[in-house]
Amino acid sequence: LVNVREIFKNTIRYENQQVTIGGWVRSNRNSKNFGFIVVNDGTFFEPIQVVYGDGLENYEEVCKINVGAAVIVKGQLVPTPEAKQPFEIQAAEVTVEGASTPDYPLQKKRHTFEYLRTISHLRPRTNTFEAVFRVRSLCAYAIHKFFQERDFVYVHTPLITGSDCEGAGEMFQVTTLDLKDVPKKQDKTVDYTKDFFGKPTNLTVSGQLNGETYAMAFKNIYTFGPTFRAENSNTTRHAAEFWMIEPEIAFADLEDDMMLAESMLKYVINYVIEHAPEEMAFFNNFVDKGLLDRLENVVNNDFARVTYTEAIKILSKHNDKFDYKVSWGCDLQTEHERYLTEQIYKRPVFVTDYPKEIKAFYMKLNEDGKTVAAVDCLVPGIGEIIGGSQREDDYDKLLARIQDMGLKEEDYKFYLDLRKYGSARHAGFGLGFERCVMYLTGMANIRDVIPFPRTVNNCEL
Ligand code: 4AD
Ligand code: MG
Repeated sequence: LVNVREIFKNTIRYENQQVTIGGWVRSNRNSKNFGFIVVNDGTFFEPIQVVYGDGLENYEEVCKINVGAAVIVKGQLVPTPEAKQPFEIQAAEVTVEGASTPDYPLQKKRHTFEYLRTISHLRPRTNTFEAVFRVRSLCAYAIHKFFQERDFVYVHTPLITGSDCEGAGEMFQVTTLDLKDVPKKQDKTVDYTKDFFGKPTNLTVSGQLNGETYAMAFKNIYTFGPTFRAENSNTTRHAAEFWMIEPEIAFADLEDDMMLAESMLKYVINYVIEHAPEEMAFFNNFVDKGLLDRLENVVNNDFARVTYTEAIKILSKHNDKFDYKVSWGCDLQTEHERYLTEQIYKRPVFVTDYPKEIKAFYMKLNEDGKTVAAVDCLVPGIGEIIGGSQREDDYDKLLARIQDMGLKEEDYKFYLDLRKYGSARHAGFGLGFERCVMYLTGMANIRDVIPFPRTVNNCEL
């Protein structure tokens, strides 16, 4: 079998030759003596048209092939300069590998994304989702390529952990105890010594703390894996299971961190535009008009920068437009993030130096004693896509923060050790992979860029 991508990319080699392809039927229409099947084999965004005539031994059977069936087609590739498609296959043989039935849920009409979410096992056979998941795959590859080309070491951090990196308490517990022995959250009467690990454990919310330990050995590292958050927020940007990319760089500060984030995003955008031109044109025309121009602009301009304090000054002038009014000390909500990046800067923006109270314990305290060396990268259409910081590298200051925040010192002993043995300035960030895919495709709902999404009240398939 030859991949349809290969035929489209190297057409000259296949013109007027015999080819054999295997794929799934998108449509089948016919008259008395001939018919057309449109076949998509998933290797290329464009399907291929197959013409068949009553010369086929099994003409009657082929006429009855249902949409969704898997077929193998052998025939000659014939250029069709007058037609919409550049060529078609004139079938010499059509065999049904696996039939389909007339109730196949994907008929040749527009289905809503909501409906398609209910058949997440079949939606990758539609145009939109074929495009989304190819871009998702390329995007992951581009991220690895970016870091590997720069000699970053890829670290596999654990998914089951005893600590809460973000200190937000939004964790899925992992336990082998009988459910009746595990009552409410925070119930201290549970005897965890009887549990599998002999202590309470959870699915990781971030690989950062483990990642930092490897940065203190390899200088530059990154993680790229699943993370889990039991946030009870039912939005278009939150999932309970999502992937995160977390680079960590040693002998580096917040400035280096922002430069890395900016060049990574630009690299990934360029890579995907170059390697998925058909898919990106589709998104540009049918999902998010003007997407390609906007992405070109992102690649060709510097990201904006503003401190949290300045951002609050700017936003408070527009408080009449917000449901949630801003003032110094408040956390930025999506409406504020989007206002900054969409209305004020009209491009990606780094917001830096947030109040320490609204950020995690590990961020480096600034000279002012009030803010930390944090950075969020906000992009139009989404809001926060990246969260990062320079890390507190001073043992005493870090210990004080851990105690202040009521975290258990013994859980962070390994982390404190890094500040005891050869502490070095270091910084890192986390890119939400799904938000990155949304940004690249213009897809508006995180559920539509995850093959099998997990969100509040939804764990199907
Ligand atoms: O800002 P966050 O919580 O930062 C961290 O976890 C740090 N440990 C990262 C680091 O410095 N190494 O999460 C990072 C990014 C967010 O900017 C967002 O893009 C994404 O992860 N994210 C989510 N994506 C989908 N669903 C959720 N529930 C998400 N929570 C965070
Ligand atoms: Mg964040």
